[in-house]
Amino acid sequence: MDHFRDKVSIVTGGASGIGRALGEELAHRGAIVMLADRNAQLLSEVGDPIAENRGNVETTSLDVSDFDAVKKMIKDYHEKHSRLDFIFNNAGIAAGGEVRDCSIDDWRDVLDVNLRGVVNGIACAYPLMVQQGFGHIVNTASIEGLVPFPGAASYVASKFGIVGLSNALRIEAADLGVKVSVVCPGYIKTPIFHTSKMIKIDRQKMLESLPDRLGITPEKCASIILRGVERNKAIIVVTAFARLLWMLQRISPNFMLWFMRKKLQKSRKEVRIED
Ligand SMILES: NC(=O)c1ccc[n+]([C@@H]2O[C@H](COP(=O)([O-])OP(=O)(O)OC[C@H]3O[C@@H](n4cnc5c(N)ncnc54)[C@H](O)[C@@H]3O)[C@@H](O)[C@H]2O)c1
Repeated sequence: MDHFRDKVSIVTGGASGIGRALGEELAHRGAIVMLADRNAQLLSEVGDPIAENRGNVETTSLDVSDFDAVKKMIKDYHEKHSRLDFIFNNAGIAAGGEVRDCSIDDWRDVLDVNLRGVVNGIACAYPLMVQQGFGHIVNTASIEGLVPFPGAASYVASKFGIVGLSNALRIEAADLGVKVSVVCPGYIKTPIFHTSKMIKIDRQKMLESLPDRLGITPEKCASIILRGVERNKAIIVVTAFARLLWMLQRISPNFMLWFMRKKLQKSRKEVRIED
C-alpha cells in the first residue's frame, strides 16, 4: 500500500511552487490533504482543481507567522480526523540583498515567515504527534541552510536555523515515535524568484543569471521529497548541483568561503544596483 494513502497531511505554502506540487502528489497518492497558504486567491485557483481531480483536499487561508491561527488550524484539522500523520512546514519567502542594504524590517519579514513559521508549525503539531505516538514533520530549508550563500544573509540565517532545529528535534523525537526530516533544495523553477524582495539587485539581470539547466520542476522536487520522507531521511538534498555544493562544503568549508567570495564579486558586477 502507498506510504501516504489515507494519511492526514498539512502542507503550508500549498498554493504555489513546491508546496502546491507536494499537495498534488500527496492527493494523487491517496493522502488526505490540507493546503494552507496566506495567498487566498491563489489557493482558491489551486485547491479546487486538485480536489476535483484527486479527491480529498481542503484549503485554508493561513499566515504561518501568526501562532494563534496556526494553532487553531492544526487543532481543528487534528480533531476532525482524530490524527495527524504529516506536516510539511514549507511556506517561505526569499529576499536578495547585501546585509549593508537591509533594514531591520527586511530581516523581520524573512525570519518571521521562514523561521518563526516553521517553529509555529512544530510548536502546534509536535505535542499532538507525541501524544498520539506517531507522525512525521518535514521542514523545508534550502541548500542555503547548509552552505553560506552571500547576498541573502537573512534567508541563509533562517534556513540554517531550520536545519539546526530539525536535526535537534529529530534526535529528541526519535524515541517518542515522531520522525523529523529537513528538505534542502537547490534551484527549483517556481515563482519565488519573481515574487521575492530584491534590495539593490536588478531582478531582470538576476533572473537572466539563474543557471536554468541546473534547475528542476516543482513536481520533480516534490517526488524526490516524498521518496526521502518515505525512507525517513534526516536531510533531503534536492538537485545534483545542491548535493555537489554540500559535499564541497563538508570536505572544505574554507574552499567554499573562497568560492562564495568569488561568486559575490562576480554578482556585484553583474546584478548589483549601485547608488
Ligand atoms: N524555489 C527554489 O529554488 C527553492 C530552493 C530552496 C528552498 N526553497 C524553499 O521552498 C519553499 C517553497 O518555495 P517555492 O519555491 O515553492 O516558492 P513559491 O513562492 O512558489 O511558494 C511559496 C508559497 O508560500 C506562501 N507563503 C509565503 N509566506 C507565507 C506565510 N506567511 N504564510 C503562509 N503561506 C505563505 C506563498 O503565498 C506561496 O504560495 C520555501 O520555504 C523556499 O524558501 C525554494
